[in-house]
Amino acid sequence: MRGLHTRREQLWDAAGLILKRNDMGGYSVPTRGLYPYQWLWDAGFVAMGWHLIDQPRAWKELDMLLRGQWASGMLPHITFHQIVDTYFPGPDIWQSPQQNPPTSGITQPPIIATALWDLYRNTEDTATVEPQARSMFQALLRYHRWLYEARDPDKTGLVAILHPWESGMDNSPLWDGPLSRIKPVAVPTFKRRDLNHVNAAHRPLDEDYVRYIYLLICLRNGGYVEPSLYYFAPFCVVDTGYNAILLRANRDLLAMAKALGEPETEITGWIDRAEKGFQRLRDGQGGFYAGFDVRAGVPLDVPVTSKYLTLWGGAASADEALYLAREFSESLGGTSYMAATFSPVVTGFHPQRYWRGPVWAILNWMLSEGFKDYGFKSEAARLRADVLQLVETAGFYEYFDPLTGVGCGGPDFSWTAAVILKILASE
Ligand code: DGY
Repeated sequence: MRGLHTRREQLWDAAGLILKRNDMGGYSVPTRGLYPYQWLWDAGFVAMGWHLIDQPRAWKELDMLLRGQWASGMLPHITFHQIVDTYFPGPDIWQSPQQNPPTSGITQPPIIATALWDLYRNTEDTATVEPQARSMFQALLRYHRWLYEARDPDKTGLVAILHPWESGMDNSPLWDGPLSRIKPVAVPTFKRRDLNHVNAAHRPLDEDYVRYIYLLICLRNGGYVEPSLYYFAPFCVVDTGYNAILLRANRDLLAMAKALGEPETEITGWIDRAEKGFQRLRDGQGGFYAGFDVRAGVPLDVPVTSKYLTLWGGAASADEALYLAREFSESLGGTSYMAATFSPVVTGFHPQRYWRGPVWAILNWMLSEGFKDYGFKSEAARLRADVLQLVETAGFYEYFDPLTGVGCGGPDFSWTAAVILKILASE
C-alpha cells in the first residue's frame, strides 16, 4: 500500500527507523561506525527527535548523557558508555578524571537545556516526569554555572571554547586564524580512525588533526584544571554561534525554573550579562563577527554561517535581524541548497569537506527557528524545505553538498533524522 503513503509519512517513518537503528539501549550513536559513542550536542537533538515518537526513550537519552557529568559540573562532549577500538581518540588518550563512565575532557555546544525544556513543555502529563525533570534542571544549572566560572572567569558575559571540537564545528574556517598561531610540538604519532569509515575528502585534514591532538594534550597536561586553562590554553576563542546556543539554552533553563518554581535570579543574571556581552561581537556594520580570538585580542571576521545563530539565541535587535536576513540571502542564496556553512564565493569554500561548506540539517533547523522567531517566514521556510528535499533525495546523511545535493560524511545519521522529525511535526 506504498502508494497511499504520503511523502511526509515516508520521511517520518524513515527518520524514526534511523533513531531506532542507532539506539544502543538508552543512548544513541550519531551513526554506526564513525561515531560509536554518545556525543553531547547530538544527544540534545536526538532527545527532541525521540520525544516525537517515544517519550520515555527521549528522557532516557538525557538521563544517560548526564551520567557522564563531572563533579565540577562540566558536561563532556563524549561519554564512552562502552569501549570499542574503532574510534580515535578514546578514553585512554583523554585520561579524564571522570571514569564511571569514562568521558572526554572537553565540552560541546550547550543545547541540552533547550532539549530539556522541549521535552518538558511537550509532555502532557508533567507530574510523571517532574522528579527527573527537576534533577536534570539542577544538573544543567551546575553545567551552566561551570561554563561561566571556567570559561568566563573575567565575567564578560560570553564564554570561551578551548578546542575547536568544543564548537561542534571542528574544522570551520573560523578556527584557521587562531590555529595558525599555534605551533604543535611533541605530538606522538597517532592513527586516525575516522578515515576507515568515510571518504577522506569529506573530513578534516591530517594537519588539522595534529592540532586537535596537540590541543587535547595541552588540556590533559593542564590536568583539566579550570579556570586556569582559560588563561593558559593555546586556543581560547569566543564563538558567536556557541554563545548564541548558550543564550537560548539559558532562556530555556529560565522557562524550566519558572515551570518548576525554582529560583530564577542566577539564570537571569547570565542572560543579562550575555546580552551585554554580545556588544563585543557587533561588527559596526549592523551585524555580528563570527567570533573573538581571546589570545590574539582580535575579532574573527569570517563569513561562516554559524554567526546567524544570533537569531536562534535572540541576541539581535529587530534592525540587526533585518540586516542579518539581507546579508544571509546575499551571501548564501546562490547555491542550489541553503545554507552552506561557509560563504560559497570566498576562497577556502569546500562543498563537501565537513564544516567548510556543506549544509547541515541541524544548522538549517536552528536557523529556521531563529528566522521564524524574528518574523522572517520565507527564509525559515526555505531552510526547512531545502533540508527536506536533500534528505528525500540523498538520504539521512551527516551533511550535504550545497551545490549538488550529494550526501556526505556518515549515512543514517541520528541528528539528521531527529530534526527531520521536528520539521515535519511543525508543518
Ligand atoms: C570527531 O571525532 O570527528 C568529533 O567531531 C570530535 O568530537
